[in-house]
Amino acid sequence: MISLSLKISLIVIFFSSTLLLAHTGVKNEDVMKRMNLMKSMAENSKILGKMLKKKIPFDLEQAKNSLIEISNLSKSTPSVFEKMAMDPKSESKMIIWEEFDNFRDLSNMLADDTLSAAKNLSDFEGLKPALLKTAAGCKGCHSRYRE
Ligand code: HEC
Repeated sequence: MISLSLKISLIVIFFSSTLLLAHTGVKNEDVMKRMNLMKSMAENSKILGKMLKKKIPFDLEQAKNSLIEISNLSKSTPSVFEKMAMDPKSESKMIIWEEFDNFRDLSNMLADDTLSAAKNLSDFEGLKPALLKTAAGCKGCHSRYRE
């Protein structure tokens, strides 16, 4: 059993680590588009992680905005992945397009979860569960569909 605080540290490290520009040299525009969307997902998650770690002050409006932004990005995820496109630098697995309904469901689930997290968030205490829920949504998709 990994303790909750260790879990959170790992999540924060995951979110705060310098975004390696995995997409440097990607020529395919569709692949580029989905990588950029994912980069924005990470940037917004990183803001929440920094607030949780008190590296930046807690700001309710900013936290809500980041959650709403993640929700919007999740809503757009199926549309940027819909067209099957590949690039040597891509980390997408082919099964995305074999199971696109499930891929879409996972995107919509994260969109709904982060939108309700934004609505329910009222103080610093609520940040941890909101971030855990968000991270679970990212991981749920990455573990099946990303190399
Ligand atoms: C429904 C599926 C799905 C969800 C939800 C999802 N991702 Fe992704 N993500 C992917 C896939 C697939 C890739 C690989 C894209 C590629 O390289 O073609 C990826 C790639 C990434 C990358 C690397 C981008 C790059 O430049 O190579 C980051 C960072 C990332 N995701 C962050 C997140 C974060 C943070 C969340 C949650 C807030 C999230 N993702 C939610 C499917 C998802």
